[in-house]
Amino acid sequence: MVASLPADAVKSPPTGDVLVRGAVRLAQHAHDKWDALRQSGALLEELGAVAPGYAAAILEREGQISTYMGEGVAIPHGTDQARALVRRTALGFLQFPNGVDWDGETVYLCIPIAASGDEHVGVLSALAEVLLDADSAAALRSATDIDVVLGLLNPAHGAAAEEIPRMKVARFYAPGDIRIEDAPEPTAGPSEVKIRVRACSTCGTDVKIFHSGHQRIDPPRIMGHEVAGQIVEIGADVGPAGNGRPWRIGDGVQTIAAVPCGQCPDCLRGWNTICPNQTSVGYQYEGGFAEYLIIPHEVLRVDGLNLIPDGVGFDEASVAEPFACAINAQELARVGPGDDVVVIGAGPIGCLHVRLARARGAARVYLVELSRQRLDMSAAAVKPDAAICGNEVDPVQAILDATNGRGVDVAITAAASGQAQEDALRMLARRGRLSLFGGLPKDKPTITLNSNLVHYSELTVVGVNGSSPDHNKQALAYMASGEVPVKDLITHRLPLDRVLDAIGIVERGEGIKVTIEP
Ligand SMILES: NC(=O)c1ccc[n+]([C@@H]2O[C@H](COP(=O)([O-])OP(=O)(O)OC[C@H]3O[C@@H](n4cnc5c(N)ncnc54)[C@H](O)[C@@H]3O)[C@@H](O)[C@H]2O)c1
Ligand SMILES: [Zn+2]
Ligand SMILES: [Zn+2]
Repeated sequence: MVASLPADAVKSPPTGDVLVRGAVRLAQHAHDKWDALRQSGALLEELGAVAPGYAAAILEREGQISTYMGEGVAIPHGTDQARALVRRTALGFLQFPNGVDWDGETVYLCIPIAASGDEHVGVLSALAEVLLDADSAAALRSATDIDVVLGLLNPAHGAAAEEIPRMKVARFYAPGDIRIEDAPEPTAGPSEVKIRVRACSTCGTDVKIFHSGHQRIDPPRIMGHEVAGQIVEIGADVGPAGNGRPWRIGDGVQTIAAVPCGQCPDCLRGWNTICPNQTSVGYQYEGGFAEYLIIPHEVLRVDGLNLIPDGVGFDEASVAEPFACAINAQELARVGPGDDVVVIGAGPIGCLHVRLARARGAARVYLVELSRQRLDMSAAAVKPDAAICGNEVDPVQAILDATNGRGVDVAITAAASGQAQEDALRMLARRGRLSLFGGLPKDKPTITLNSNLVHYSELTVVGVNGSSPDHNKQALAYMASGEVPVKDLITHRLPLDRVLDAIGIVERGEGIKVTIEP
């Protein structure tokens, strides 16, 4: 009966309950077969049973072969290649009382299927037994009560949806709308790793997403991209880490957030940070404001899951991702022994830059900040050679005075401010380097740059965009060696249900690093 199944069909029943209450949709409408297929794919993605992309594979599969099964039932599923996108075995149930034309047949029930590994065949054969029985097919077609559906399709367990473990998550729905919710706990697909999230730090990006959303986020989406945790499940096809060490249950790990494709011309040159195909944890993949997180294949294949070194806590490891961006910047601006450096902006990023510049051998490191309160808090932690309040004195003059009129070798703008960028350029010594670390608002991206200053003084202006997997490894190594401590920069630790409070603290600049411990 199942024309599109592999021939090596074995009859083993599905394990556990694959149809949960939230997957049953009664009295639906579809314009045509493709509309029904789209709804089917969206349902599986919404359940979190499959990674994004599986819905498209359902359409592709239908183009190859019809998934009409007889008795008014279609069983849409992805292509063989899409099997890697399956996170756990699951069924959907869509009832179309008015019927949907399916190449001349009429479909009343669409049962989309996601099956991991060899469970595929077992699930289908168990389903077929129920569906090809005319009485139960008719009962399913006319069911008006979800329990009837669950009872027929999960005969051994009845309405046992509650048996799937649940977890708490913080999910972004729309600007201003982040909800703390209960969600099914995900399971790892064959090429994925599941972690118990122990720490997920917040940053300005979370504030931006909360207020304005993000062009690369397709809501609803679990937020959080500065993640550390512990491995609890390893997919059957997952190989060892990049250094050859096999993953073990219980390993402490940190994940990259910006995920390069690893295959484009830029990635092949080692320029992972500007990969045009970049995807991100918390954008295209679920994020770390959750009790559990699936590390997708896309992260593992670029060696983006890192073992946390001995002596480094989960809280500290969660700061490795923003710290990695600072490492990228100071590499590009070539901060090195003997350099005088100024960091403009005393938020968490500015603090990391001050400490990193020292670790790289800078001679003197200055910190400039507009807010007196923030300057005092951050300077007390990272102890710059001078802390300059840009609201009280002219910061350019203050830097020139501190350097006997010479200026600094490197200026890093750790603030989303055009004024900071313009000031920074005027603080530079001859041959100085300016790192434009903080981006500017989309509607105000231009500054006035005295190009003669760049010309005659042989200045260098460098951009910086995120970090590579290797920068994340370096960040963890700096912490492990004690060269760049970050523990004391974590000023707030909050439980998952206080994500909105955490975002508020970040937005008001009341802390340095604010970490969620789910
Ligand atoms: N390039 C990258 O890879 C990358 C990565 C992470 C963050 N960032 C950017 O780095 C910047 C800093 O991040 P953060 O989390 O520390 O931000 P933050 O908002 O917590 O801190 C920025 C600080 O800069 C101060 N400031 C603003 N204008 C100033 C000026 N003209 N002179 C002196 N101080 C000024 C603010 O008062 C604030 O305290 C942000 O713009 C962020 O988007 C860039
Ligand atoms: Zn961040
Ligand atoms: Zn790439």
